[in-house]
Amino acid sequence: MKAHIDLRSRRNFLLKLGYGATLAAVASYAPSIFAETAAKFLIRQSTEMLPLHFNENSLGMSVKAMNAAKQALIQFGNRYAVEHYNGFVSELAAHHKVSEQQLILGNGSTEILSAVVTYAATQNAVVIEPTPTFGALKGYSENHGMKVIGVPVDDEFIIDIAAMKAIALKQNTPVLINLCNPNNPTGNIVKHQALVNWISNAPDNHIFLIDEAYYDYAVGIDDYQSMLSMIQAGNDKVVVSRTFSKIYGMAGMRMGYGLATEKMAALIKPFAAGFNINVAGIAAASASLTDTEYYARSLASNAHSKKILTAALDELSLDYVPSHTNFILHRLGKPLESYTSKMLENNIKVGRKMTESPYWNRISLGTPDQTQQFVETLRAFRERDWV
Ligand SMILES: Cc1ncc(COP(=O)(O)O)c(C=O)c1O
Repeated sequence: MKAHIDLRSRRNFLLKLGYGATLAAVASYAPSIFAETAAKFLIRQSTEMLPLHFNENSLGMSVKAMNAAKQALIQFGNRYAVEHYNGFVSELAAHHKVSEQQLILGNGSTEILSAVVTYAATQNAVVIEPTPTFGALKGYSENHGMKVIGVPVDDEFIIDIAAMKAIALKQNTPVLINLCNPNNPTGNIVKHQALVNWISNAPDNHIFLIDEAYYDYAVGIDDYQSMLSMIQAGNDKVVVSRTFSKIYGMAGMRMGYGLATEKMAALIKPFAAGFNINVAGIAAASASLTDTEYYARSLASNAHSKKILTAALDELSLDYVPSHTNFILHRLGKPLESYTSKMLENNIKVGRKMTESPYWNRISLGTPDQTQQFVETLRAFRERDWV
């Protein structure tokens, strides 16, 4: 594994330097084994990308989840997932200490976002969200012809709750407040008490959609808590969305869900597809929920990668937003466009433009080995004044 990583990073140097300089470069950077296999390696590696652009979990799914999914396919792939669906709803409800009626399952949590937007559209709601934030909700809202008001984050990328609140109060219509906490692409949090104060005092025509896709990475951070407690306390204005795509590494399985009071969930449910998840996804999610060893490993791997990356960013004097997620928003010394294409030439997919400025990039944390590979490439970029 280590040799593989080393070799691939050697190949990055080759690409950076251009193929003409290949063997000279190899000789200076590489162990002799690489000099012998360089040409073969170039061909083999040319299709292998390091995807650090979608905030996926590079660790892969829990083995228990994978085995459960395989078994479910073998046994039940030809059957409708009725019992599995209902069983999983009970399990998840117990996990979160809510009733089954408070849960809405989604084919990924984006389906929950879409369902909440569709419900809000029936109420002629205006959408208010920070800029930048995860873009799916804005897209869904605009497709419904809804007005979306983006409220810029401050110079340190902190969400301006006071400004959002003031704008929300000025509307003559219901409002849907979209808050991703921790936020994507900034990776930082909205403080719990500020949010509780806002929600507790907000008029009844406010709906707060709190997207907690990255919740698990922020647990234990000062001033951070899930908004689930407000739902458990009976607040009808709050909807929380969660996903199995991040900490559980199941992005490809499309498993997400929403939580709300029974009253609110009943209003949203008609707009979710319903009966929309499959036996393999259910089995994998169910196994993941009890695989505490995987959960701890997934968190530890992410924390390790974060250390590797922040140390390199510090060393290269590239500013970054302290992150409580599986990605980091960091500054570039060169415009994002040229940086992105050079990274792509070196088989690394990095983020796209997500901030007003062309000098910030969101990079997903890979496994520690992958993050190390990215960091080596970043250092090589700096040597060439590319970052
Ligand atoms: C904030 C946020 N919400 C939701 C999603 C989508 O999650 P899912 O895979 O559950 O649809 C993402 C994916 O990156 C995200 O960043």
